[in-house]
Amino acid sequence: MYSHLRDDFPTLRGEQPPAYLDNACVTLKPDSVINSISDYYSMYPGCGGRSVHRYGTQVSRLVAQSRQTIAKFINANSVNEVVFTRNATHSINQIAKGISWQKGDVIVTGDREHNSNLVPWLQLVEEKGVEHRIVKSNPDNTFNVENFEQVCEDVGERLKLVSFSHVGNLDGISVPIKKIAKITHEYDALIAVDGAQSTPHMRVDVQDLDIDFISFSIHKMCGPSGMGGLWGRYELLESLRSIQSGGQTVQTSHYDSVKWAAPPSKFEGGLGNFAGMIASGEAIDYLSKLDMNAVHEHEIRLNSIITNKIKHLDSIKIIGPEDAKQRGGICSILMGDLPSHDIAILLDEAANVMVRSGQHCVHSWFNAHGHSNGSLRASAYFYNTEEDANLFADTFTEAVEAFG
Ligand SMILES: Cc1ncc(COP(=O)(O)O)c(C=O)c1O
Repeated sequence: MYSHLRDDFPTLRGEQPPAYLDNACVTLKPDSVINSISDYYSMYPGCGGRSVHRYGTQVSRLVAQSRQTIAKFINANSVNEVVFTRNATHSINQIAKGISWQKGDVIVTGDREHNSNLVPWLQLVEEKGVEHRIVKSNPDNTFNVENFEQVCEDVGERLKLVSFSHVGNLDGISVPIKKIAKITHEYDALIAVDGAQSTPHMRVDVQDLDIDFISFSIHKMCGPSGMGGLWGRYELLESLRSIQSGGQTVQTSHYDSVKWAAPPSKFEGGLGNFAGMIASGEAIDYLSKLDMNAVHEHEIRLNSIITNKIKHLDSIKIIGPEDAKQRGGICSILMGDLPSHDIAILLDEAANVMVRSGQHCVHSWFNAHGHSNGSLRASAYFYNTEEDANLFADTFTEAVEAFG
């Protein structure tokens, strides 16, 4: 469906391009993104936001444009609600360490969270006496609304914040964020969304979802590595403490006091990754030209091909419901006693298929379920083809039969 776009990606143009199915980790980059990085270094390698010479002014202009593109992509109310960060992990840490916590406040997450949406909250438990409650999923890993409502009811007004991954990197399953936001707000609590696996793959409208914060990984959206984003409602960002104070974060300072800059500047301390910020805008501009609902459908179609071809294999089990519609573009496979890393290496070396193996930073789920071997995960994006899906499924089947 998007095969014509494959030519935009240097790694897909060669004689034998890989079936790159590790998109939940990091995506490939189109020429426009790569070129914008080298344009910064070769044509205007200056400092945005401060220097007023031509280089500085050009960088300031391009960074502002990039922020605007991102704001539009997620339907932010204002461009000033978009903060550049290093990655989604940095964004979540900014929320966790920026909120003012009281002992006994409660933070709620799911039971299949990436470490980046678990460890910052556990740190608050250790350091601030905050309580952490987990909402148990259904046996097939889908969201259980009743369990969430019960947790909220149990903790009542002590509920301060809920933070869920919109789409799990473990299994591709989405949670009903709009419904969760409604319930959360009934308790006057805040909702933060880990959008690392949703913003690249589906239409995400922060106003329609009625959420308070969302964190995302621009490197999973065709953008440069080392770039992420944080969106928050402006009035919440105004009251959030910056975890990266210093140059750029104040209007002025005296020997004994500071006058903070307004968001987003107050969170972007120090000289920024300007090449990364500008290239982020190029990446989101690239995605803005796609129909994100169609991207999602395309990924499900590829996942269905994979699922139908491998589901009969005895020694493995797909995590989550069998229906690929409920798992987006992610097929995460429990390997039993089979050597998942060896099989991942074999797929790469013998068949030119790239996937991920291991616990995908969701150790808590694998530990709780006794699957220390982790899983082998194939994750699709718009540039993947049916041939990629078939090649993975066929060679994976051969490998499982050979090792089994
Ligand atoms: C669901 C989820 N949350 C958070 C992260 C962390 O993202 P980043 O590497 O941008 O910090 C990831 C990365 O894989 C993820 O999949």
